Amino acid sequence: MTAQRIYLDYNASTPIDPAVAAAMKPFLDDHYGNPSSGHWAAATAKAALETARSQVAALLGCQSDEIVFTSGGSEANNLALKGVFFTLRDKGDHIITTQIEHPAIIEPCRFLERLGARMSYLPVDGTGRIDPDDLRRAITSRTILVSFMHANNEVGTIQPIEDCARMAHEHGILFHTDAAQSIGKVPTGVNELGVDLLSIAGHKVYAPKGVGALFVRRGVLLEPLIHGAGHEGGRRAGTESALLAVGLGKACELARDLKSMDRVRTLRDHFWKQLQNQFGNRVALNGHSTHRLPNTLNVSFVGRIGAEILGRLDGVAASTGSACHSGRIELSPVLKVMSIAPEVGMGAVRFSLGRTTTRDEIDTVVERLTNILTTAV
Ligand SMILES: Cc1ncc(COP(=O)(O)O)c(C=O)c1O
Repeated sequence: MTAQRIYLDYNASTPIDPAVAAAMKPFLDDHYGNPSSGHWAAATAKAALETARSQVAALLGCQSDEIVFTSGGSEANNLALKGVFFTLRDKGDHIITTQIEHPAIIEPCRFLERLGARMSYLPVDGTGRIDPDDLRRAITSRTILVSFMHANNEVGTIQPIEDCARMAHEHGILFHTDAAQSIGKVPTGVNELGVDLLSIAGHKVYAPKGVGALFVRRGVLLEPLIHGAGHEGGRRAGTESALLAVGLGKACELARDLKSMDRVRTLRDHFWKQLQNQFGNRVALNGHSTHRLPNTLNVSFVGRIGAEILGRLDGVAASTGSACHSGRIELSPVLKVMSIAPEVGMGAVRFSLGRTTTRDEIDTVVERLTNILTTAV
């Protein structure tokens, strides 16, 4: 008998919402025109592209012309970091970020270091939060950009973006946040957060893979990564995909309603309570108890190996923080930076819930974990 399939990896990717798929369908079937053309075949695509742009802008609380469509979160992050550096390198060469960013931030930063940028990678505390005082101390007269992720993909910890952005602005420094994990889960208004640049990724918010967007506040100049014709206000060349933009736009429209997250949070808390009931102090929560995404439960099974537990949880899709390198199990870099003890961090499993996760699924996973962990490994 094959095990019931249970998907608890929504931070890795989400399914496409049926309403998103329905909105996209006419652009697969009929509306093939190039949005930049001047004839009848372009009109629908062009109008849909701009509607989609306004839907993304409505979610972020900004103007439509402040949205640049990209191929996803990685491209949006690359455009923000490299675009600012290439534009402002005569003014300064210093960028501040954190040690727990996604590789889509860390790797472009390493690349910019090879081009002469100076980087500060700030540490975080045991809950995954940065200390704004560390930012204050890191700022120099050469700092041009601060980039802190809004919420961490592994442990879900939410950063004090508002305070940090304010501090950056007091020094005339631009502020970018990678909100790939936070949109649709917590409020992400760019004015409330006070950011100049913000990245989103479609496939984390029930839109397809291969589409994302960067919010660029009016007045912020960015050297494009892709030069060509003047698409996207000259900030990203290449014929826009109305199909993908429509998908992202519809997903953003749906994501404005955060009510479904109340149910997800309740379910996530129920999950954690059940695990505590079953395992007591043999489980530990990774991440902040309150400043955390409502769908994310990163739990360590103390003294165990997360990958082995997942290996025995047939049919359950979730992620582990530990990775096997050359036969050795290594702690996830994020948990390492959080100073989680190896015997705790090695047992980390990230469960991330979504809109359609049910209580039944959670109870089944708890029951199966109980069976696995109470029989000898
Ligand atoms: C925090 C964060 N930033 C960026 C990305 C990259 O987004 P994409 O896969 O759309 O390039 C991810 C995806 O895992 C992420 O979790």
